[in-house]
Amino acid sequence: MLRLLAEQARTARDRLPADVHDYYATGSGEEVTLGEAEAGWLRHRYRPRVLRDVSHVDTAVRLLDAPLAAPVLVAPTAFHGGLHPDGEVATARGTGAAGSLLVLSSRSSRRIEDVAAAATGPWWFQVYVLADPSLSRHLARRAVAAGAGALVLTVDTPYTGTKARGGGPPVTDREYLVNLGEHLAAGTDPDTATSQDPACTLDTLHDLTDQGVPVFAKGVLRGDDAVDCLSAGAAGIIVSNHGGRQLDRAVDTAYALPDVVAAVAGRAPVLVDGGIRSGRDVLTALALGADAVLLGRPILWALAADGATGVTAALDAVRTDLAEALALAGATSPTDLPDGLLADTAPPRP
Ligand code: FNR
Repeated sequence: MLRLLAEQARTARDRLPADVHDYYATGSGEEVTLGEAEAGWLRHRYRPRVLRDVSHVDTAVRLLDAPLAAPVLVAPTAFHGGLHPDGEVATARGTGAAGSLLVLSSRSSRRIEDVAAAATGPWWFQVYVLADPSLSRHLARRAVAAGAGALVLTVDTPYTGTKARGGGPPVTDREYLVNLGEHLAAGTDPDTATSQDPACTLDTLHDLTDQGVPVFAKGVLRGDDAVDCLSAGAAGIIVSNHGGRQLDRAVDTAYALPDVVAAVAGRAPVLVDGGIRSGRDVLTALALGADAVLLGRPILWALAADGATGVTAALDAVRTDLAEALALAGATSPTDLPDGLLADTAPPRP
């Protein structure tokens, strides 16, 4: 893990009440998947090329239409208001200043329109399929109207996985309903209407493709599911196990990525998240065929440690580390990696 990310994580742990920290840190079940996330990337080894003139390394990429300083995005995570008084508004500012892209969670502590106003760069909106499906559509429509460049449908959460630690979201009722409340019909029980819809299917994904922006499917761990999502209209795939918060003992994403990349076969962008903590982790993901990665908890700890400035610093540090890793591997850009960069044999799985 990059030193700055470790320092920010320590500061966040020291500053936050223990149960609040645990809400963000925890995994589900016995936290097996959470525990293996970082190790998945550490298993791979490089075969660097030498004497390639790496005096100019440029980490910038375009993802769909979005220009990015590096192929590193901010993953959608719930309730930033528990980490910083400005919540997602601070995250959006910090992300924009780093030339990155925020995927705003459906469970945002701040109004979608306020986060949009604070964003200085591209941002996307994550959609949960809620028990009242009209709520999900209201949110998606509002986000697109406010400028979201894509929707990200989270497909791994038919039910919310039971967490190992922490006492549930550290938010008030007002925060919980800041975006949803106005769309609830009078007399509806908010908890019931905003719970996850376990009956969602590929049709649910297809239905979301009429909003005028590309739709990513987030939470895919298999090539066959990726192909089904593309057939249903998805414009891209995000390989994810939800940061080890859904099905515990699900495979790590470094393991799942090659199967999805092979199945998608270049037809759509493939992104990945989970346990990415350095530029070398990003390089490994790119070498395995990802177009970009997303950071979850490192951004939460950065926000708690130092607000928008902390978020910018974390993203800048990963970008700088990626530039160094690219140069030392013999590459000048994320899209120009040497063939055969990864060794065939990696240390055995733990
Ligand atoms: C998440 N994640 C998540 N995903 C999503 O699609 N919608 C959400 O609202 C949330 N909320 C959320 C809260 C918290 C506290 C965490 C830690 C995670 C999952 C997230 O997008 C991402 O998949 C993982 O966090 C990536 O793993 P790392 O980087 O945290 O290891």
